[in-house]
Amino acid sequence: APAGSAPPQGREHWSGQTAFILAAIGSAVGLGNIWRFPGQAYENGGGAFMIPYLLALLTAGIPILFLENAIGHRFRGSAPLAMRRVHRSAEGVGWFHVAICFVIGLYYTAIIAWSLSYFWFSFRLDYGDDPAQFFASQYLQLGEPGTLSAHIVPGVALPLVLVWALTIAILALGIHKGVERLNVVGIPLLVVTFGILAVRALFLPGATDGIEALFTPDYSVLTDPDVWIAAYGQVFFSLSLAYGVMITYASYRRRRSNVTGPALVVAFGNSSFSLLAGLAVFATLGYLAHVQGVGVSDLQGIDGVNLSFVTFPAVIAQMPGGQLFGAMFFASLVLAGLTSLISVMQTISAAFQDKFGWNPRTTAVAVGCVSAALSIVGFSSSTGLFLLDTVDQWSNQLGIVAGAIAMIAAALWFGRRGHELERHLAAVSTIRPGRYWPALVNVVTLLLIYMFMSKAISLA
Ligand code: PFF
Repeated sequence: APAGSAPPQGREHWSGQTAFILAAIGSAVGLGNIWRFPGQAYENGGGAFMIPYLLALLTAGIPILFLENAIGHRFRGSAPLAMRRVHRSAEGVGWFHVAICFVIGLYYTAIIAWSLSYFWFSFRLDYGDDPAQFFASQYLQLGEPGTLSAHIVPGVALPLVLVWALTIAILALGIHKGVERLNVVGIPLLVVTFGILAVRALFLPGATDGIEALFTPDYSVLTDPDVWIAAYGQVFFSLSLAYGVMITYASYRRRRSNVTGPALVVAFGNSSFSLLAGLAVFATLGYLAHVQGVGVSDLQGIDGVNLSFVTFPAVIAQMPGGQLFGAMFFASLVLAGLTSLISVMQTISAAFQDKFGWNPRTTAVAVGCVSAALSIVGFSSSTGLFLLDTVDQWSNQLGIVAGAIAMIAAALWFGRRGHELERHLAAVSTIRPGRYWPALVNVVTLLLIYMFMSKAISLA
């Protein structure tokens, strides 16, 4: 369809505002909340990290979430189509977002698959007394450090195939019956499951030491630019910003919808979940330190892959009733992960539907099958673990910053759509962003450019 033409016939809609909010929270709440936020906070000043984090949320997270919602809602298209309507030469920006989604989809699935295996293992405490060894040698079947082996590990391939099959089925059911239903059921279930887990964690012996370790502020970090970069990076990743996801999800809202109000619910809901996760994870780590008779600061592996697949299994194996705790933890990872994965896959699928006018179901299946094939080849063997880090650095740390700068530049610097978007927000929303909004986004862009340069230099 040419720029500005009517959207493809019968563009799907969310059933209502709540469905949209749950889906957007589903995208935002993910591994970034459960295993990234607590570790980032701990390593970047503890309680003092809340200052750059909150400022990043208020100055960048929320304004850019407004921007993406405004673009998607106003121009009613997937990322490439909506971006082309923002500026006639900006379609590529949308495709860049789609490309990053594609990369994330490949490895996010791997982690969901591992979590699914570990959900299963938790009932019988298969990981036993040496979870580090179990994860590396028995589960992933890694060879000697530094050697790569491409042989497919059936125990890893099977859950991966299951996760992809489920994902493709949900995508094929469409926005209303598939994506929406997953989130409407999945997000409340996640909140309940993780909430119970958090309460249980808070009553473990040593829990308060863990929480104290997390929140004890070290204000000296506030002069360190890297801490600020970490805070902005965390907010971007966590709110799924600059991936084209929020543009896509907003494009399925009805025309006369309140844009800013729900966006604020999403932003604060997501941060609340991060805080809850911080409490739960560090209470559990406090317990581990207590059991081992060491300080919380002596513990290793407090975030990411190690937290989930080595440190937590070690705690679970020692805890009374650990099986249930473990099953709830891994079920939370699967739910949080799946609802984020569906958002990146929908972003890709929607882009092709809009570009070529393909039927939604066929496109969803085609996009899903191509991703599934690559993901299964890449992550069923021991190479997966090595791919993770590199992919994360380039796509999530460098790629999205570039994608954000390009999106803002197209909307507010080079195009004449800035005022239109601002007026659009004011017209359809209960909470008006006000005049400061474009100025704020512009200042943030300068900061992003700085972040991009320093990250690029450190990766080069
Ligand atoms: N926001 C998700 C998290 O915090 O885990 C990650 C994510 C999901 C990023 C979807 C990007 C995305 F498109």
